[in-house]
Amino acid sequence: VSAKTIYGGSYNLLAHTLPRYGITATFVDGDDPSNFEKAIRENTKALFVETIGNPNATLLDIRKIADIAHAHKIPLVVDNTFATPFLCRPFEYGADIVVHSASKFIGGHGTAIGGVIIDSGAFDWDASGKFPSLTEPNESYHGVSFTKAAGKAAWITMARAVLLRDIGATLAPFHAFLFLQGLETLSLRVERHNYNTLQIVPFLANHPKVKIVRHPSLAESPYHDLYTKYFPRGAASIFTFDVKGGEKEAKKFIDNLKLFSLLANVADVKSLVIHPASTTHSQLNSEELKQQGIGEATIRLSIGTEHVEDLLEDLAQALEAI
Ligand SMILES: Cc1ncc(COP(=O)(O)O)c(C=O)c1O
Repeated sequence: VSAKTIYGGSYNLLAHTLPRYGITATFVDGDDPSNFEKAIRENTKALFVETIGNPNATLLDIRKIADIAHAHKIPLVVDNTFATPFLCRPFEYGADIVVHSASKFIGGHGTAIGGVIIDSGAFDWDASGKFPSLTEPNESYHGVSFTKAAGKAAWITMARAVLLRDIGATLAPFHAFLFLQGLETLSLRVERHNYNTLQIVPFLANHPKVKIVRHPSLAESPYHDLYTKYFPRGAASIFTFDVKGGEKEAKKFIDNLKLFSLLANVADVKSLVIHPASTTHSQLNSEELKQQGIGEATIRLSIGTEHVEDLLEDLAQALEAI
């Protein structure tokens, strides 16, 4: 069972690719945690959410969703890419497995592709009774039972020993080096991303050519209470807003920006902009787009670490050009 407000590529994996391998997902509105509970079936293996949804900076109550997962003896998997471990550590709220696209804030420079899986070691696979591939002898790996052989590290050991071997999703050594270089400045960069964002959000929200800004720092945001609870250091330098008008106005704004680069990447030290409906989320049909809150006038910004005055000036002149 997955939140429906997730990165388009993850949505496609769950909605279209994995079903061909016999793994299906039910998508629910994460705004109400009880929706996860209602969707859980006898054969449900996990709940999946993003700490901060891509692209609309939607938040959810991780603690409540973790409690629901555990009441049903299944793990909660959290994609913490947009939050980073500097702003939120989902294990503290009950998550069992955390994943990151390291290609974002961890690297920080959009120069390498890779990901990270972290197993809390806290989930009791034996007690769950739903994971024979971990508890029973594994034919493809010397007949070991991973829970017996690796204890708390059962799942991550299986991921390395079996899945990595079979799928081949290995990290290039040079990319590992780039990620480690990036990690050293993670906190400094994220502080600056947040500082810039907290000045840009009110500027856009008060601009006459802007229809709506979706950011949890705004008092009117439906996610404001969760933002205060889970993100005391601020968050969400990737967010969306709608210009007044439609696709034509949105694209004119984008074409007039000088400092923001038109790129599908996010969480780079350089500020980025994109039109999700025609790019990152273009594989979604119009109903799916609507469900994810993405319209023709929606623009996604990824606020970088440049000087905020330069960014504000660029946004102002591009809005003026519409
Ligand atoms: C939240 C989130 N998770 C996962 C991914 C996938 O990451 P990668 O492209 O590094 O595989 C992305 C973006 O690409 C993302 O935004």
